[in-house]
This record gives sequence, C-alpha cells and structure tokens, in this order.
Amino acid sequence: MNALANDVDLSASNTFGLPSRASFFARIDAAAGLGESLALWRQNTELAALPWRILGGGSNLVLPRRIEALVLKVEIPGREILSSGDDGVFVRGGGGETWHDFVQWTLAQALSGLENLSLIPGTVGASPIQNIGAYGVEVMDLIHQVRAVDLRSGEPRVFPREACQFSYRDSIFKHQWADRLMITEVIFRLPKSFRPNIGYGDITRQLETSGVTKPSPLDIAAAVMAIRRSKLPDPAQIGNAGSFFKNPLVPAEFAAELKTRFPAVVTYPQADGLVKLAAGWLIEQAGWKGRRLGPAGMFERQALCLVNHGGAAAEDIIAVRDAVANDVLAKFGVRLEAEPVHW
Ligand code: EPU
Repeated sequence: MNALANDVDLSASNTFGLPSRASFFARIDAAAGLGESLALWRQNTELAALPWRILGGGSNLVLPRRIEALVLKVEIPGREILSSGDDGVFVRGGGGETWHDFVQWTLAQALSGLENLSLIPGTVGASPIQNIGAYGVEVMDLIHQVRAVDLRSGEPRVFPREACQFSYRDSIFKHQWADRLMITEVIFRLPKSFRPNIGYGDITRQLETSGVTKPSPLDIAAAVMAIRRSKLPDPAQIGNAGSFFKNPLVPAEFAAELKTRFPAVVTYPQADGLVKLAAGWLIEQAGWKGRRLGPAGMFERQALCLVNHGGAAAEDIIAVRDAVANDVLAKFGVRLEAEPVHW
C-alpha cells in the first residue's frame, strides 16, 4: 500500500526550484499494488473531489505556490533487455527511471539509438508525453509501446506506438489522457545495428573538434553532453525547464514573407509543408537573450531557456513568459507556445 502524506513541499521536486506545496502526495514505486491504492483513494470523498496529478522528474512543470490536488510521484524502477531479433532489440524502462541514467545504461549494454537524447532531464515515463527530442532524434522514433494504468478505473492500458499520436513535442498523453494515466513503463525498440545520426550542425562540429571521424554511440553521447553543457543551464545550478517555448510551426508562405523582412530568420522546412522557426532566434532578436524581469529571465547562452535566477515563484515565470511572447508577437507576428505544463 502506498503511503499518503499531507501538505508536502515540492520545491525540490521541480527543476525550476519554484516554491510549491501539495495538499496530498504519494510516492508510487511499483505497479503492483497501485490498483488497490487507487481504489482506496477514490473511495475517500476528500481525495475523490480533487484533481490527481502525476509528477515525474518535475523538469517540464511550472508549479503554483499551492496545489490542491493529490500528487502521485512515479518512482517505478526497471531496466531490462526483453528480446533481440531481426526486428530490433526490445528494452523495458520503468516509468520512474531517470531518463539520462537509463540512456547511459542502454549504451553500456552496447545498444544504440538513444545516444542523441543523452542528458535530457526527466524520467522514462515522461519521455513519451511530450515526445522528447534533441539533435535530430525524437523518442517516438524508438518507442514500441507505452504501458500505463488508468487512474479512474485502475485498469492497465497498453498503447502501441501508432496509438500514441506522436508529433513534435506532443502526444495523446497531453490531451485526452492528461492527468488520467500513470505511465508505468515504456518499451523501446532499438536498432539491431548502429545507425549514427550526426546530421545536426552542432554535433558535426563537436565531433570535428574532438577529432572523431567514425563515431561510436558513446562518442555521439559524449558530443551531445558537451553541447548541452556548453549551451543549456544546469538545473542543479540555475532553475529551468529546458526550452521554455516550442519552436513554432508556420505556413510556408508566412515563413517566406518573414524571410523577406528578416533574411537571417532560422527556418526548418518540415515534411508536411509547414516550416519550423527557431524560437531561440526570434527571442534573441526581440531583445530577450540574457534579459531579466525580476528574479526570472531568458538564459544568456540560449534564449529559449527561461531561468530562475533565485527566488522566483510561478507568477514570475508567467510574467516573463507573457512579456517574451508579446514582444515576439509584436515584432514577428508569431505566437509562441510554452512547452512546460502549468498546474
Ligand atoms: N538560436 C539563436 N539564439 C539563441 C538560441 C538559438 O539564434 O539564443 C538559433 C541557433 O543559432 C540555431 C537555432 O536557433 O540556428 C536552433 O538553436 P538550437 O540548436 O540551440 O536548438 P533549439 O531549436 O533552440 C531545440 C530543442 C531542444 C534541443 C535542441 C537540439 C525545442 C523546443 N527545443 O532547441 O530541446 O535540445 O533543439 O536538438 O524543440 C527542450 O525541449 O527542452 C530542449 C532543450
């Protein structure tokens, strides 16, 4: 049975380091017994009346000072190679595993596929929710199946990759299943043989700098870690949630028109005809790189990262979010959408 706690401090459980307290909180460290706990909590009228929220690594969240909810923190462990055949190597990760440690474990097993996703904060269970991605790879490329428990019924649910409705930083888990599902494990299908993905400019340059011509998965992981450490703020030192805004997708005609007014605008044409714009570039050009508003602001080395310089609360993050989005809209006519979830 999972123990319930009252009035729990979550300031150390969110990478922004925002002050936040939850009225009810429980750690879930195994899928076994979860159904029983859920049934018991549903019978409790006070708990049943509250929203139930799932907490992973807390790296994609803006937490308010007070959360009137039952917060369930997923700490389910598990790392296992299930099978290996011509169609790939199937690997299981527990929902509560730290993402980066899990990736490094797969590399230590001489497996490949996840190396470009090294050092992304968060957990294995959270990885499909926003379809984490970096340096030319998205986790949807490697996911075989997502296993979860429906919080309302306590029943297990299995989502094959095709049922997850993955797209850029998005999935079904952010929509009709939001706050209704605990992802207990993810089954990955990794390639049988290594296919390096080094097309992303930063990786090519980093490998050249280190003199690597035929990179192994570990070389790519090392390159990715070096790039991330040089550009992105370390949450242990400065509170942040990675990229704060999504790179906006706009129609090709709009992007072409923008390019006539701003020839240096960074664009990535997509397979579906839309064009992705580099939000970091837009934010920098709008004057926000390294700029602060009170205790929060945009990071000086990557304008897409909103950082807590110390002492910020949710309202300070939201003030910067709105100011940046307004300035980008006024200058470029582009609407930015925040990536982190706001409880
Ligand atoms: N740029 C600027 N100024 C900035 C930041 C970026 O001009 O301050 C320009 C860069 O020069 C480059 C372009 O914007 O031409 C893209 O920058 P970068 O390669 O740093 O990547 P990004 O688009 O800003 C995305 C992801 C990151 C991921 C990197 C690498 C999103 C929202 N972000 O950032 O993911 O690590 O690509 O693949 O898609 C995250 O989601 O939390 C995250 C860190």
